[in-house]
Amino acid sequence: MTTFDIDERLFEDLKGKVVIITGASSGIGLATLKFLISHGARAVAADINPLPPDIEGADFRKTNLTSWAEQVALFDETVKRYGRIDIAVLNAGVGEIENVFVDNVDANGALVEPDFTVLKVNLIAPIVGTKLAIHHMRKQPGGGSIVITGSGKAWTGVGGTPMYATAKHGVLGLVRTLGPDLRRVNVRINLMCPFWTDTGIIPPDLLAKNASAKRSMQPPSACARAIAHLGMDPSCSGKVIYVASSTYTDVDAGVMATRPLWLGQRNHEDRVVWEEDPSNAEFSTPL
Ligand SMILES: NC(=O)c1ccc[n+]([C@@H]2O[C@H](COP(=O)([O-])OP(=O)(O)OC[C@H]3O[C@@H](n4cnc5c(N)ncnc54)[C@H](O)[C@@H]3O)[C@@H](O)[C@H]2O)c1
Repeated sequence: MTTFDIDERLFEDLKGKVVIITGASSGIGLATLKFLISHGARAVAADINPLPPDIEGADFRKTNLTSWAEQVALFDETVKRYGRIDIAVLNAGVGEIENVFVDNVDANGALVEPDFTVLKVNLIAPIVGTKLAIHHMRKQPGGGSIVITGSGKAWTGVGGTPMYATAKHGVLGLVRTLGPDLRRVNVRINLMCPFWTDTGIIPPDLLAKNASAKRSMQPPSACARAIAHLGMDPSCSGKVIYVASSTYTDVDAGVMATRPLWLGQRNHEDRVVWEEDPSNAEFSTPL
């Protein structure tokens, strides 16, 4: 069984921790911000939109995460003000904006370049955030922790949102690759993958007619607890957690336990030889 409970005692140590949360002005990011503040963390909230007016105790920084300069400033100013960053929650996201495979043409009949904002916000921005978090965290005593918000679409393609799913598959690859390598510099990275969560990212018309959404909808607070868990549990490194109907599942534990079944015993064993080969160390991510 790869489903697990979250140990609330972990959250006692959130007091005083410095946490950056992106996409903090609504939905999962806002729920995470509230959760962290209520546990005494010092929270730096970054979003392109302002926080709701009733939020107290957050240090808001208006940031367009698709801008390298603005994201650099977010991390630099946080370290300048608080001296360190304990946890970086890279959560901001947008839904599919357009179907890039439908031909749009200009007045001359030439193909128009598609809008790749989904890849910029959901993939490039968390890669930049990860780079900046590593840059600062590796230099500080005790290291630090990065939590990225993925999705069930990190490993499935259901729903006709190819750019969104590509971005989410991308952050899955990032976490799986960097997870083991970042231990060398005392930084942890993990992925929190929600299923249906009651936020503004879900188009209202979809919500009204989708049986799965009605069946499985969870409050954003369920994701906030998973983010805080991954941020705080020192044993979580390279973990991929699925959060659905307010339950928590360790995805890669399940993947590994069943791999001989779906990949074939021989293929599984061949991969184990490759994955556990000590000479892989020399090919790990340069940091
Ligand atoms: N709600 C769900 O069912 C669900 C399911 C799977 C994954 N997710 C993921 O959860 C994360 C949070 O989304 P949510 O559901 O809370 O939606 P949301 O729309 O409520 O929140 C997203 C936040 O990101 C911010 N944002 C978007 N682009 C930005 C930019 N360029 N710079 C700065 N901030 C920006 C928005 O202003 C918003 O506050 C996303 O990564 C999303 O892909 C959500």
